[in-house]
Amino acid sequence: MSNDARLIAGNEEYSYPVLSGSVGPDVIDIRKLYAQTGMFTYDPGFTSTASCESALTYIDGDEGVLLHRGFSIEELSENSSFMEVSYLLLNGELPSSAELDEFSRTITRHTMLHEQLATFYRGFRRDAHPMAIMCGVVGALSAFYHDSTDISDPVHRKISSHRLIAKMPTIAAMAYKYSVGQPFVYPDNSLSYTGNFLRMTFGVPAEPYVVNPVVEQALDRIFILHADHEQNASTSTVRLAGSSGANPFACIAAGIACLWGPAHGGANEAALNMLKEIGTPDKIPHYIERAKDKNDPFRLMGFGHRVYKNYDPRATVMQKTVREVLTALKVNDPIFEVALQLEEMALNDPYFIEKKLFPNVDFYSGIILSAIGFPTTMFTVLFALARTVGWVAQWNEMISDPGQKIGRPRQLYTGPTAREYVPLDNR
Ligand code: SDX
Repeated sequence: MSNDARLIAGNEEYSYPVLSGSVGPDVIDIRKLYAQTGMFTYDPGFTSTASCESALTYIDGDEGVLLHRGFSIEELSENSSFMEVSYLLLNGELPSSAELDEFSRTITRHTMLHEQLATFYRGFRRDAHPMAIMCGVVGALSAFYHDSTDISDPVHRKISSHRLIAKMPTIAAMAYKYSVGQPFVYPDNSLSYTGNFLRMTFGVPAEPYVVNPVVEQALDRIFILHADHEQNASTSTVRLAGSSGANPFACIAAGIACLWGPAHGGANEAALNMLKEIGTPDKIPHYIERAKDKNDPFRLMGFGHRVYKNYDPRATVMQKTVREVLTALKVNDPIFEVALQLEEMALNDPYFIEKKLFPNVDFYSGIILSAIGFPTTMFTVLFALARTVGWVAQWNEMISDPGQKIGRPRQLYTGPTAREYVPLDNR
């Protein structure tokens, strides 16, 4: 008995191979469907579609499992560092101590930005959203690093990957500095990846900046939690842009643009703004009723997920980290209490239970970032900073796949059929 999937369409029966991965749902290989049946599949939002084969990240939405190259997000966030997770995503194995030192040194030595790019910032209004600046500046990188844009050359791919991972903190910090009218702070190679970012963001030339180890560790863990997440919208955007042969800087700029949406990476900014709007626990029932009202476009930001129909494991780690950071910084943020009570009420409400809506990675992250001193407009910038390693790893995996071809979906056409042109005088 073959393991093929059989389809009966019209009077014909067709069979398609069922492919199995190392874990997770099997897939029906329908690459020959249109040629054989003259029909397309129809799956807006790709709720039942596997777009590629990947060995990077595995998610089990029902069990709330997230693995990077087989290692659980719980273990990585507890025991690893963002540099080590970056190495793991790019190379497939945890590094030795020497390999990690060399990788960190390589990234560190790419953190400076071409000096001409500093003038690029001066073209933006001071109140420009930093994500608009990220889209513009990252998209412009190919104009400055043209010596690493030949995607057919593995050396070029490696250098551009390292440049993107290394320069995102510098670009992000400069976007923040520009928004507050402070001078840009150059990278300091004696600091860790995350410590360097904190100093470039919050340091000033007028006095020394001492990295707070609690903040450094919490932010490094937040970067780990955001590093990669299978074929989410922005990663799929990067893969689709890369499938045309576009240079990696342009592809990552496309990913940043997609991440900005409030249904995706923009949800961390929207979630904290929502918690601030709710303000006090007594207002929570009103907002929960609004979220359940079909006629009200309001949704609980930071809740729900296309894949997780259980608690997002990243949200669990994030909630624990909130407690650690607020305690260490001696910050008593009433918004955290609102978040905890909102979660408690939502998780006990039949609407959220039935629709399997749980807090996702964006629900608590804003509380920590706010406590550290970031304005809400920087939250998605930090998401993009961390997700760059995932985008770059997924882009490399796609480019190295001998079977990859340009992504070009089809459609169900429901527009007018052929008709004659009507001259203007006759309309
Ligand atoms: C990220 O894909 C990834 O992996 C993304 C991400 C990553 O790491 O890359 O995990 C990061 O983007 C996390 C998600 C951040 N977004 C938000 O928190 C925004 C609020 N959440 C929703 O917009 C929504 O839950 C989505 C977009 C996240 C998922 O939407 P789906 O899978 O398309 O589900 P859906 O919109 O079809 O919702 C199913 C039902 C609907 O009700 P019915 O039409 O069936 O009656 O659940 C309802 C929705 O109305 N619903 C919500 C809700 N989310 C879904 N109702 C109230 N509040 C919510 N947050």
